[in-house]
Amino acid sequence: MTILVINGPNLNILGKREIRHYGSLTLKEINSKLDKQAKSKNVKCLFFQSNHEGALIDFIQKNVTKAQGIIINPGALTHYGYSLHDALIDSALPIVEVHLSDINTREDFRKIDVFDGIVIKKISGHKEKGYTTGLQLLINHLRINLP
Ligand code: DQA
Repeated sequence: MTILVINGPNLNILGKREIRHYGSLTLKEINSKLDKQAKSKNVKCLFFQSNHEGALIDFIQKNVTKAQGIIINPGALTHYGYSLHDALIDSALPIVEVHLSDINTREDFRKIDVFDGIVIKKISGHKEKGYTTGLQLLINHLRINLP
């Protein structure tokens, strides 16, 4: 089983960004936790981060046939990224959306989430634990639902 783990704009500088919202771990540290967790369950993760919406879409289109599910933190694209939204629908894969911070208790613009309704689960406000919980949830979902 292969899962795409995708991070959008500004998540490459985790560890230096507002720590009270995003925690102190770097993306490399988060991905290495996920990789360990996935390997222990016989699952392969393909990791990708970009600050560019088109590059995220290219990655999804290129890897869709290799993968059974997606974990994504779209960063600020959460609030307006309709091209990414469409690419995720077109992938037809089950998607778990992760946010390190609690987007519902911050500025009003963060309360708009264009991915609402297309993901099987949204986890928001649990810092890096959101990714590990999301991975477990997606694996469980896939093990139950795959032919
Ligand atoms: C974020 C929340 C977004 O509003 C913000 O633009 C981010 C990170 C989060 O993980 O909490 O870049 O997706």
